[in-house]
Amino acid sequence: MDYASGRLARLRARGDARPAPAEALLSALPTPVLVVDEGGLILDANAAAETLLNLSRSAIIGMGIDDATGHHLRTMPTETPFVAYDLEVLLPGPRHVRADMMAAPLPDWPGWRVVVLHAHPSTAPIARRAGGNLAAAGAAALLAHEIKNPLSGIRGAAQLLEANADAESRELTKLIRDEVDRVAALIDRMEGFTDKRPLELGPQNIHAILEHARSVAMRGFGENIVFKEVYDPSLPPVLGHRDSLVQVVINLLKNAAEALGEKGGTVTLTTAYRHGMRMVTEGGDGRRQLPIEVCVIDDGPGAPAEIAEHLFDPFVSSKRDGRGLGLALVEKMIADQGGMVEYAREGQPERTVFRLLLPRAMRK
Ligand SMILES: Nc1ncnc2c1ncn2[C@@H]1O[C@H](COP(=O)(O)OP(=O)(O)OP(=O)(O)O)[C@@H](O)[C@H]1O
Ligand SMILES: [Mg+2]
Repeated sequence: MDYASGRLARLRARGDARPAPAEALLSALPTPVLVVDEGGLILDANAAAETLLNLSRSAIIGMGIDDATGHHLRTMPTETPFVAYDLEVLLPGPRHVRADMMAAPLPDWPGWRVVVLHAHPSTAPIARRAGGNLAAAGAAALLAHEIKNPLSGIRGAAQLLEANADAESRELTKLIRDEVDRVAALIDRMEGFTDKRPLELGPQNIHAILEHARSVAMRGFGENIVFKEVYDPSLPPVLGHRDSLVQVVINLLKNAAEALGEKGGTVTLTTAYRHGMRMVTEGGDGRRQLPIEVCVIDDGPGAPAEIAEHLFDPFVSSKRDGRGLGLALVEKMIADQGGMVEYAREGQPERTVFRLLLPRAMRK
């Protein structure tokens, strides 16, 4: 018998082992908790939620979750846990507070969810970012470990196949080997998400990189996609890191393929030279020009509104099996190359645009 169960038995013998009633636990919990029904109406709130929302329990009960938080949360998934980080919760007043929100289904009440809010003190968003990156560092190390072992097996198998392959198949086995080598090299780099070594940057032909990523996508996850290219043929070389750029584009194409689903759709890759595109850097060199624009555009529905501002944060995902790391890696790899990435819904009809702004390689 371990220590805890021994103690429980002693308490039982004394008649003291009454479980605290659930309502008492909920009300004493120092974390704001709400219970929400399938239509988004709040059915219950604990004392910490009263304090956070600055409303009495009876005023909160019956409110819509959208009205209580100022976010379109009514549509969050009902069957799976859901997390949204760093929401700006609007309070009556008008005041607002930043909070992380976690929601989980109540299995015996279909459509109902228990919603927990973690409010940040005023400095917390920065702390959470650092925390998020640390957590991502752990996840990257774990992934690296899980991926590197099978990679060597895949490479070996491709090499064996190559020995008896005809010319056409050899092209495919070479693609496997090249991709395995590229991913292995990337993993070495990512093993610390916090790796501060500067990337070795050089002049890159972005069109060759886009074509390579596209051919990987078409042979893997992109068979339902119709690709369109709108390239500027006179584009100068980008100053960047080839393997990282390929990975960035593959991550964006994978998301586009997932957004388009089985029905498929169109992905448009565009490149353009934009005079006057700049960003202010915090380092000593003041302003840096980012004149090369690369867009990955899909005609899917776009990201859910409640996470649209946090897509690049680690672990933000709307997918059942999503890790929420694809775009966090994209942002990290682009930042390592001095570039920028942004998400937008643009055009008529609206399409999803992931836009990369990159530096150009200077002529020697
Ligand atoms: N092209 C897109 N269209 C619509 N939503 C998108 C698109 N790209 C990203 N998103 C949204 O951004 C979220 C985060 O994307 P991210 O790539 O970081 O993680 P993920 O795809 O969910 O998981 P994984 O770690 O496997 O990539 C997605 O879950 C999705 O909601
Ligand atoms: Mg992804």
